[in-house]
Amino acid sequence: MSVAKLIVGNWKMNGLLDDSRARARTLGSAVSALKDSGFDMVLCPPATMINAVADVLAGSPVRHGGQDCHTEASGAFTGNISAGMLKDLGCTHVIVGHSERRQHHAETSALVAAKAAAAHAAGLIAIVCIGETDAERSEGRADAVVSAQLAESLPPSATAENTAIAYEPVWAIGTGKTASADDIKHMHALIRTKASEKVKNGAWLKLLYGGSVKAGNAGEILHLPNVDGVLVGGASLAAEDFLSIAKASVG
Ligand code: 13P
Repeated sequence: MSVAKLIVGNWKMNGLLDDSRARARTLGSAVSALKDSGFDMVLCPPATMINAVADVLAGSPVRHGGQDCHTEASGAFTGNISAGMLKDLGCTHVIVGHSERRQHHAETSALVAAKAAAAHAAGLIAIVCIGETDAERSEGRADAVVSAQLAESLPPSATAENTAIAYEPVWAIGTGKTASADDIKHMHALIRTKASEKVKNGAWLKLLYGGSVKAGNAGEILHLPNVDGVLVGGASLAAEDFLSIAKASVG
């Protein structure tokens, strides 16, 4: 297993072909030029741009992934995309259970587990997202909520090799409010312990932090214990910023 930090850009529903290609091209060349960068970078564009981004990234060490997948391999599911279709486009990863999908698409942890299992069956690494809301934190329920989401969102097929877990406190996403170093340390230690009860070799499982990660705070976050990478939204839309975040993981 690689000890390189995993730096994932979640572009969400942003951009069109031209700017997506340009951003991917800049990142692909910059990371290629580093030779042995010491980090693993994955870009997750909107589904319509995956193919174009994959073409641009060909030959570079930067990989690409999807932002969601369906639980089934194929069938009458209008508007959905299967894990196999992502694999077909050369994706290595897929994000499942992002809080925006839990919130706006009423995704339950059981559904997220089924999506992660579908990703595994297709040969993808599932990035399983969990995290508490502001209200849950103020009620003192953050640990309980995150523990329950973790227990219910990991399918039996999860291993340290085919799964990464992203702790993204909902109140930190797109708000400019980052969780404190102590909060991240506490929650990642909890996630490591709980995940190790379900997944063999849990010590190797990649635990990512997400929520207002920027070039200015990435270095501190990426060097906290049990932080094996970051899942970045807004700051991944600017190539220079995202590259600075990735570089902050080394040295
Ligand atoms: P921001 O980095 O914009 O806060 O988004 C985090 C996120 O949701 C990544 O999946």
